[in-house]
Amino acid sequence: MKASFFSTKKNWRFPSGETSKATASDTITNDRVFTVKHWTEELFQEHPELFLGHFDERLKQTPGEIDALIGYLKEQGFRPQRVLDMNCGIGRHAVALAQHGVQVLGTDIAAHYIQIAADKAREEKLADRAEFRVVDMRQIAAKLAHEPPFDGIVCLWTSFGFYDDRTNENILRDCLRLVKPGGFFALDIVNKDWLLQNYAEKGFSRNKDWIVLEERRFDLKKSRNHNTWFFLKQTSELVFKLERIIALDHHVWSLPELMALFNSTGWQFQKAYPGFATGFTKRKVSSQSIKSKLSESAMLLVISRRPD
Ligand SMILES: C[S@@+](CC[C@H](N)C(=O)[O-])C[C@H]1O[C@@H](n2cnc3c(N)ncnc32)[C@H](O)[C@@H]1O
Repeated sequence: MKASFFSTKKNWRFPSGETSKATASDTITNDRVFTVKHWTEELFQEHPELFLGHFDERLKQTPGEIDALIGYLKEQGFRPQRVLDMNCGIGRHAVALAQHGVQVLGTDIAAHYIQIAADKAREEKLADRAEFRVVDMRQIAAKLAHEPPFDGIVCLWTSFGFYDDRTNENILRDCLRLVKPGGFFALDIVNKDWLLQNYAEKGFSRNKDWIVLEERRFDLKKSRNHNTWFFLKQTSELVFKLERIIALDHHVWSLPELMALFNSTGWQFQKAYPGFATGFTKRKVSSQSIKSKLSESAMLLVISRRPD
């Protein structure tokens, strides 16, 4: 019998054993229900190769992002010596921070990306300064419980908001336990005000032999962006094969909502800056875009502080 697919809200058991109401996709076959993995696990753990092209595109702009980040932190009185790069991907920021003399622990759910990051750190002779570990952010406090507290946490390029509200908030609360009193959390995330004013229901990107087609829908009531990504691989000059379709969704916040989120999870909002350019906008990070107005910025870099 042919399988049919639909999305529904139901209890979802996370690896931590915690239950949370995430959107799960269920497959019904002959009246039996199989719950499939959360999209972050499907995309980043099962098919990490699908996102590699997106990292590639951003490698060039990483030094500009790190210079801006260090400048913002300095302006807020932070000169970190030891940082957690939570959801570090292939470690582009972690390795760059290590090049600036910062001791970094990079964590990510994807073993494949962590391997690439660790290889790069070794290649750059920075393995003693940039360490990498596979950690799901939903278990971050438990997994890093024995780590000495960090001076701060960075979480860059919309690597947060993937789960239901309670889980997202718990992650921020957990992070508070990992930094010293007076330490920081720097979050680079898409700006809801910008996104809604510039909303494109369809998108397209091309990386080497991959084409990614995107369909987007914004749920205003839940403040969540729903994307369906169609990954097509070029198999010959004229043939593209549809390899996979992945439906993803994440919470999107405006600046006042982000301020409220941090303040309600134990942090103290300190300052917001324009964040780093992403696929939503073709504008590259430059001193010009960094100085541009917050409302015109596709991304926000929000700095919060752990109270003393
Ligand atoms: C858009 S990428 C950004 C990566 C990196 N911060 C950068 O700027 O290159 C999002 C990252 O979040 C990671 N991720 C997604 N869900 C995660 C989870 N539950 N725990 C840890 N990492 C997760 C993905 O594997 C991916 O590397």
